[in-house]
Amino acid sequence: MTSSAGTAGVTAAGPQSGSAATAHATRAPLVVVAVAALGMLPLAAAVGLAAAKPDLGDPGAVVRWGVLYARVLHDVSAAATVGLLVHAAFLMPETTRTHRRLTATRLAAVSAWMWALTGAVGTVFAFADLSGTPLSDATFVQQLTSFAWGLETIRVELISTGLVTVVALCALVATSRAAMAWLATVALVAVLPLALGGHAAGAADHATAVNALAVHLAGVTLWVGGLLGLAVMRPTLGRDLAATAQRFSVLAGWCFAAVALSGVQSGFIRVGGWSDLATRYGALLVVKAASLVLLGAAGWWHRRSLLARLASGSTAAFTRLVLAELVVMGIATGTAVALARSAPPVPDTPVQDASAAYELTGYPAPRALTSASWFSTWTTDWLWVALAAVAVGLYVAGVLRLRRRGDAWPVHRILLWVLGWLVFVYAVCGAPGVYGRVLFSMHMVMHMVVAMLVPLLLVPGAPILLALRAIPARPDQTWGPREVILQVVHSHVFRWLANPVVAAALFFLSLAVFYYSPLFELALRTHTGHVLMLVHFLLSGYLFVWVLVGADPGPRKWPPLMLLVVLFATMSFHAFFGVVMTGSTTVLAPGFFEALHLPWMTDVLGDQKQAGAVAWGIGEAPTLALTLMVAIAWVRSDRAETTRRDRQADRDGDAELAAYNAHLQELKKRAEERG
Ligand code: HEM
Repeated sequence: MTSSAGTAGVTAAGPQSGSAATAHATRAPLVVVAVAALGMLPLAAAVGLAAAKPDLGDPGAVVRWGVLYARVLHDVSAAATVGLLVHAAFLMPETTRTHRRLTATRLAAVSAWMWALTGAVGTVFAFADLSGTPLSDATFVQQLTSFAWGLETIRVELISTGLVTVVALCALVATSRAAMAWLATVALVAVLPLALGGHAAGAADHATAVNALAVHLAGVTLWVGGLLGLAVMRPTLGRDLAATAQRFSVLAGWCFAAVALSGVQSGFIRVGGWSDLATRYGALLVVKAASLVLLGAAGWWHRRSLLARLASGSTAAFTRLVLAELVVMGIATGTAVALARSAPPVPDTPVQDASAAYELTGYPAPRALTSASWFSTWTTDWLWVALAAVAVGLYVAGVLRLRRRGDAWPVHRILLWVLGWLVFVYAVCGAPGVYGRVLFSMHMVMHMVVAMLVPLLLVPGAPILLALRAIPARPDQTWGPREVILQVVHSHVFRWLANPVVAAALFFLSLAVFYYSPLFELALRTHTGHVLMLVHFLLSGYLFVWVLVGADPGPRKWPPLMLLVVLFATMSFHAFFGVVMTGSTTVLAPGFFEALHLPWMTDVLGDQKQAGAVAWGIGEAPTLALTLMVAIAWVRSDRAETTRRDRQADRDGDAELAAYNAHLQELKKRAEERG
């Protein structure tokens, strides 16, 4: 693929800068993926009956096919936008003579506008399809404006398109790497709401289906986008192609694992058993699994031989394989879009005469809570289990890398880190998490464990310190994981957040705001609300404990005495919050708890008072531990200071004392002179 063949007027100064050798970013790879996906779509749609005429309310062929084609272009432009921004912010080296980042960001602006446009058009088609109203219907626009937001599938597409429009606008003017990094993050986040639509919305195990599809979409978008970005920017990379490809290969490995695991899990939720692979839906799944295997093999071949050959300057084989991969990714994407609109063997029809608890939480009501329930109740929430597994896996990999280098790492830190994640998984998947969906008191147990106990175990693990010691620095001023961590912990925002007063306020004010506002009921009723609630509990608790006793490098630490003052102020508020709730006379989130009608839970207010006692009770133990840890840190810092001064005195013959005595002498002399 020479620059002349695929160029489209986007230039970046080539390695041999000077006008003669200017290299062009090429758009040919975008065309390759789009053509492969659009080519595969009609075939896959025919197999999955994805555009078949419905029995009732046919919106017409234009809509039935339009929604599919718009989605394919939507998914391809989403991948291109995320991929180009990730390359600009994190993967591509830049020299004083190249403008690769700007080129990639401006190209990302174009694909982001394409994404926003296909998102908007797709939303209109999706509404016409869902409502069974042809576009030509006189009432269509009025229906669209009145009812669209009320439909979750349409609402999530509108939210995603809104975020993408912001990315498209900013990518036109962004020049700093930090801006490109933020745009890449927002663009990736814009993909996630889509997981709330489609089959996942109606699936029996709703939370798992939505989480799996969210991970799947994020993995696919990063993977396809990263490879697209590499192919598009290849002509501008010259000798840096090998380094960029090497870095993308690491990211591609993670994406492969995420896409495979989440794809298989999503697939299992929608097919009942192996025999269902013989269905239309199953056949499309098999096509996707085959493409994943092919892509895995290509990835293995890249690592096995092509990346090394690339480093020695031979790019032909690499370019050919990348093009082949993009074709396979296009085929998988076209198949996926048809799959998302094909009827799965396990119909996503709602459970018959579901209980109030099921209607409200999406989960069957647990049996009455007994002491045995603490050990026997379990609902695996794969998102959090996966998070804990990755956090522990990366931590252990970091420690092993230090060990291999002959550097020690305290064992107690490893044990506390692992224990912290085990307690977290128990809190969200065990009795606190399961009963916390229907019982206020158990919800508070989960809250206190996740926000106070888990951070108390995780923070002493000092993961930032480990990462900065284990991850090598990038040699070419690009932002790898180590550089991103340093950027974050030294950023103005982090310095503000790490101010103990701010961290404490965030920790305890969010308690009051969350429970005494509609946020609480939103978190109880919606999957997104539940996930965001747990993320907030964990992060605000972690930040609070970190500013008090964190061993990681970061903004300047406050003197221990001030930290103790902040700690006691926070805990008195915590106790006050518990007392107020224990004394409360009105039920919080009444529309939820009083609608549950649990046969074994009739005293909702009583249970709320118990939640107050839990907030107060469970809050105290970690406070004591924190106080001890701050006091120990105080003693240690004092001891270290004394040792430092002693060593200084040994080195300079105690110049400080001498100076002090001299000062006293001076004062005495002056006093005597004044007589
Ligand atoms: C083992 C391999 C894979 C399996 C089992 C799998 C399974 C699934 C399932 C079940 C869905 C949800 C469809 C629905 O809503 O019913 C999905 C969506 C999707 N998959 Fe995969 N997948 C696999 C690999 C891939 C690969 C390799 C790609 C692309 C490179 C991909 C791209 C997508 C996309 C783009 C969607 C979202 C479609 C849309 O709604 O627009 N998948 N996948």
